[in-house]
Amino acid sequence: MQYCITLGEKLQEMDHFKYQDGKLFAEKLAVETIADEIGTPFYLYSTATLTHHYRTIDEALAGLRHCVFYAMKAASNQAILKTLVAEGAGMDVVSSGEYARAIAAGVSPDKIVFSGIGKTKEEIQMALAGGIRQFNIESETEMKLLSSIAVEMKTTAPITVRINPDVDAKTHEKISTGKAENKFGIPISRARAVYAIATELPNLEVIGIDVHIGSQLTTLEPFETAYKKIADLTTVLRNDGHKIERLDLGGGLGIPYNSLSETPPLPSKYGELVKRTVGHLDCEIEIEPGRLIVGNAAILVSKVIYIKSGEERNFLILDAAMNDLIRPAMYDSWHDIIPINEPLAEHETAHIDIVGPICETGDTFARQRLMPPLISGDLVAFRSAGAYGAVMSSEYNSRRLIPEVMVNGDQFAIIRARPTFDDMINRDIIPKWLK
Ligand code: LLP
Repeated sequence: MQYCITLGEKLQEMDHFKYQDGKLFAEKLAVETIADEIGTPFYLYSTATLTHHYRTIDEALAGLRHCVFYAMKAASNQAILKTLVAEGAGMDVVSSGEYARAIAAGVSPDKIVFSGIGKTKEEIQMALAGGIRQFNIESETEMKLLSSIAVEMKTTAPITVRINPDVDAKTHEKISTGKAENKFGIPISRARAVYAIATELPNLEVIGIDVHIGSQLTTLEPFETAYKKIADLTTVLRNDGHKIERLDLGGGLGIPYNSLSETPPLPSKYGELVKRTVGHLDCEIEIEPGRLIVGNAAILVSKVIYIKSGEERNFLILDAAMNDLIRPAMYDSWHDIIPINEPLAEHETAHIDIVGPICETGDTFARQRLMPPLISGDLVAFRSAGAYGAVMSSEYNSRRLIPEVMVNGDQFAIIRARPTFDDMINRDIIPKWLK
């Protein structure tokens, strides 16, 4: 049966969510035991998977002077950040909120890079006051504002300029960032002019180049094209007299969401590509992976509420919804959805739509998915839910944010509790005329 072969051959090598004696385990704990205590739905992270993925990408760059800056937008719970900090990770932040979270998790400021196209004056001030390794600059206006703030604060701001290399990352259009039509970076054709301006501006220190062409890339070619352009640009800018000591190559390496059809390149192959394209430049290499580190390090555990037989289709109605995991609704993305009880080989599978309880048709996780028989009360797990899962959730339909739980060997801990209804309601403030 295709369904079980997949689990046995591929997914089990990638993470620490495996069937043992017919039950899904997270490391050494049965997922069902945790579900009984926490209640569903909830996100469940595996420490061993998180650290394994961090080490894999770090080792892929061994031999190069390099640093891994975890793109914490993918999942920013303090427990996740602290786990990665203990591994030696730096952080890529895109807001003052992320900066504050990184500092709270114990990241040294000289291991924080600040990305993003809309850094505000307050955000820049906060990072300059607290300390920062570099700002990845996205426009001339931002560069000028940063310079004036650095002058005011009597400090120097280290910068790279994010280059838009006009390369198609061949990923979903909503997460593609390196084409000329995208809002990101400075066109490569304007790079020399912009670097010249940067050197004229007071209190800026040009230290490198930054590029990030998109997320969930499943082939290496777009990286190769982009990095070659950055290598050529490095030579040109050095000839112009600029100090190019660091290359921030962004994140974006994809993970296998669909165990049947996706085989993204291995981190080791990506590492070889980096060495081949920019390894000769004697630059410190920085990368900003998010999904690659945390994507496969969590599952979303949910319970079947009902099975509904429709005229044309059958529906599996879960207690998780699009507010908990927006990716399928937003990017038509695939997540493997597996039962917590390992399906028996002799079970017939059937096509079914897997949906949440929210009042819109978009609240659909999977259409015509081949599933073994399930009944109300059964538990299922969405695989590869660690990246852009919890962080993109909302309280739509006044559904409380779901808990985050972390496993470490034979221990587990709630790392974000389910709020009470009062917690949710009491954030609203009644104006005096309604009291
Ligand atoms: N660096 C920059 C400047 C970025 O904008 C991003 C992601 C990353 C690094 C990390 O990319 P990763 O290694 O995780 O692919 N919500 C979408 C993904 C948005 C990605 C945004 N930028 C999703 O659920 O697929």
